[in-house]
Amino acid sequence: MEHTIAVNPWASLAYLVAGVCFILALRGLSSPTSSQRGNRFGMIGMTIAVVTTLVTHVPRHLVYIHANLMTGTIGDAPFIPDYTTIAEILVAISIGAAIGIVTARRIAMTAMPQLVAAFHSLVGMAAVLVAGAAFLNPEAFGIAAAGQIFAQSRIEMGLGVAIGAITFSGSVIAFLKLNGNMGGKPIMLPGRHVINLAVLAGILGLVAYFTQDQSPWVFWTITGLSFAIGFLLIIPIGGADMPVVVSMLNSYSGWAAAAMGFTLHNTAMIITGALVGSSGAILSYIMCRAMNRSFISVIAGGFGGDSGGGAAAAASDRPWKRGSAEDAAFLMSQAEQVIIVPGYGMAVAQAQHVLREMADKLKEEGVRVKYAIHPVAGRMPGHMNVLLAEANVPYDEVFELEDINSEFAQTDVAFIIGANDVVNPAAKTDKSSPIYGMPVFDVNKAKTVLFIKRSMGGVGYAGVDNDVFYQDNTMMLLADAKKMVEEIVKALG
Ligand code: TAP
Repeated sequence: MEHTIAVNPWASLAYLVAGVCFILALRGLSSPTSSQRGNRFGMIGMTIAVVTTLVTHVPRHLVYIHANLMTGTIGDAPFIPDYTTIAEILVAISIGAAIGIVTARRIAMTAMPQLVAAFHSLVGMAAVLVAGAAFLNPEAFGIAAAGQIFAQSRIEMGLGVAIGAITFSGSVIAFLKLNGNMGGKPIMLPGRHVINLAVLAGILGLVAYFTQDQSPWVFWTITGLSFAIGFLLIIPIGGADMPVVVSMLNSYSGWAAAAMGFTLHNTAMIITGALVGSSGAILSYIMCRAMNRSFISVIAGGFGGDSGGGAAAAASDRPWKRGSAEDAAFLMSQAEQVIIVPGYGMAVAQAQHVLREMADKLKEEGVRVKYAIHPVAGRMPGHMNVLLAEANVPYDEVFELEDINSEFAQTDVAFIIGANDVVNPAAKTDKSSPIYGMPVFDVNKAKTVLFIKRSMGGVGYAGVDNDVFYQDNTMMLLADAKKMVEEIVKALG
């Protein structure tokens, strides 16, 4: 029997419109000012894609099975909507949506990376389940004739299940590490590169063999090996590289969805999967550059990646100066320009609202206030931008690293609030430092540095000491970020 797929031109058009909406969504998400519009485009695109699939694919699909069993033909059966199936799907969507809404509302901003990792694992598992269902019941998917799955579909299915399984097990490990259920330190198996290469070669070889032999053992061995390689690739990765890994798994989940799209003959999934896959890959690359990591090392599973997150503190006995909220208020009110550098501690303290209040007061006194955002400040891409936007900080006061770094030398006060690694000069000077090579803010060049953190013993993500604490022009403001800024606001009157 011929491999015929009935394509509804209206469905294709609707999927194309959805695809355009997704592209506009990505475009919008590239800047904080247009991100809400971008999200709206994404939602519209997804609604169009889901509704189109529901009204065209579901009923026709079931009719194919019917037609196939009764007449041995596919693709020419009448359109009979199957309301029971649609109702079942709607119930499933509602349950998933309810869980998603409750989880997203409850989750703390600082726990976002692990939530994203958990969601990616679901996409990976969905790809495995779809490929498994297609393998067990290929006629229902229109990808087989007389029990023989078409060769092209076997390749799509083999790759889909492999990428899906890697995404699933990799994301589960990423979740466990980010959530603290598993140590953030890299776990280095002896000979891991040889093992990884052998397993990868095995998977690719079996996918090729699958085109010749569709025995269940081939399909399930590909699945099993892929679960294993996802696990093996992520366990050697240290905490510091986890953000890159999450965005890479995001990319994999896109490719898994694209592969599912081929199996299900769904253009919208192919387009969306490819968009997620490529944008995730680009984001991973940008993050690797911002953290000075080699992209290849990270995707190859901790090649030379011996940078652990949260290593032991290296508190030193050197002298340092302590300041009060009143000192800080006085120094800043006398300044011409203050540059605020927020970091992870601001997110923990939820100090963004009171920080904006402080900036408003300073502006009333004629001080120019700017915010400097490092690409990896906080614990996820755009973390600081989201928090500042939440506090209604004007976008034109927010600057990226390369646009503001040269200004510190002419700035009266660098106000560091809960940041540490992103202002650590060791990244430029100390070759043995785990953050060596990462571009950092030159806050030490400002006339005065005000540094908010809770204690001298506390370290940043990379677990290293920071020379800025001990500089002559640095005043340490030791307290919870929110409390300290509240006191500064009071002192500003
Ligand atoms: P960190 O280097 O992690 O430093 C955070 C600082 O905040 C610490 O000095 C901590 O000191 C202080 N702090 C914590 N809670 C506080 C509170 N309630 N009030 C006041 N201070 C508080 O932060 P960063 O400079 O933003 O750097 C980010 C680091 O995370 C980089 O190493 C980056 O590579 C890594 N990373 C980034 C991402 C992404 S994508 N952004 C994801 C994962 C990891 P105390 O404990 O003494 O208060």
